[in-house]
Amino acid sequence: MKTYRIAVIPGDGIGKEVVPAAIKVLDQAALLDGRFQFEWTIFPWGCEYYLETGKMMPDNGIELLKQYDQIFLGAVGMPNLVPDHVSLWGLLIKIRRELQQFINVRPAKLLQGLPSPLRQPNDFDFIVVRENSEGEYAESGGRIHSGQDEVAIQNAVFTRKGTERAMRYAFELAKTRNGHVTSATKSNGITYSMPFWDEVFTQVGKEYEEVGQASNHIDTLAAFLVMKPENFDVIVASNLFGDILTDLGGAIMGSIGIAPAANLNIEGLYPSMFEPVHGSAPDIAGQGIANPIGQIWTGKMMLDFLGYQDVGTRILNAIEQTLARGIKTPDLGGAATLQEVTDAIIDYLT
Ligand code: NAD
Ligand code: IPM
Ligand code: MN
Repeated sequence: MKTYRIAVIPGDGIGKEVVPAAIKVLDQAALLDGRFQFEWTIFPWGCEYYLETGKMMPDNGIELLKQYDQIFLGAVGMPNLVPDHVSLWGLLIKIRRELQQFINVRPAKLLQGLPSPLRQPNDFDFIVVRENSEGEYAESGGRIHSGQDEVAIQNAVFTRKGTERAMRYAFELAKTRNGHVTSATKSNGITYSMPFWDEVFTQVGKEYEEVGQASNHIDTLAAFLVMKPENFDVIVASNLFGDILTDLGGAIMGSIGIAPAANLNIEGLYPSMFEPVHGSAPDIAGQGIANPIGQIWTGKMMLDFLGYQDVGTRILNAIEQTLARGIKTPDLGGAATLQEVTDAIIDYLT
């Protein structure tokens, strides 16, 4: 039997609640399947670790992670105690960059059994391919002067390599789906990066003539995702635009608490990292009412990535059955606890 060694970073807040829940579901799915098993190694890194040691992870943290097949992460952030730019850049973003997880794949689809908050939701099923290493999140800029003259400068960096890589991933993904890519741009207002983004989209698009292609400004695209999300298949977006669109994707499904994500090292050189779209939700942490579906669906994405799409499908079916029976956490308007939702998903696994 194949054993996958997974590095687990529950992180902070509800990460510590939803990760153990998802591990239970994944273990049960593996047991039922019988071809493989997981060996989980927990790394207690995050804000509490920082408050004790002054670091979000040990100095050899990245080297340790490289020894595992994949990484399963909950969420990072205790903004009342540790500034977000310290905690996120010391752990989550550090891992994404140092392990070259250039592509962040974030699906959103209308689930059976879960009404969307949209007024007239047609069946939507789209995937945002988010450039995950540069763009607006570049570590470039500074603060100069002081007082009334103070200026903060943040440079967005778009490399040809990084932009082409994201576009190509999106086109290849579209070939396996409904065959359409929409580029999220803002070349009407942003003068260097976005015209370049458009140019690269057109150039790479020429290699994929069989794939439908469109470009929408990000403001319009955000509106279209609310008004007619069924029109989209694959959306390729810069780091910041992709970040924003994917909380929106979660919201139109019903809650950001169910939105999954995968940070992929597409060359297979280092582990990829599977972590949901949502954060540590300090407002509900410790109450046992966090929605575990985002983390569980993220586990399904890890199974897909490992080549067990059939097992992944079974997990999504069990999620839909649970929702269809009204077993929902409060973010979805229900009264069930995290434990009850997790137990139901395990019961419905076949
Ligand atoms: P958040 O996603 O943590 O929470 C936003 C809202 O959604 C909150 O009302 C929260 O209760 C709700 N929510 C989120 N996930 C939920 C779930 N699974 N079940 C039920 N409700 C859920 O975003 P935020 O409040 O902007 O950020 C809180 C902290 O998390 C910050 O420190 C932020 O930087 C961090 N963060 C981390 C990640 C990550 O590690 N991947 C992602 C986003 C935000
Ligand atoms: C996400 C999060 C992170 C991001 C933050 C916490 C840095 O919002 O994974 O969507 O912007 O990438
Ligand atoms: Mn986000």
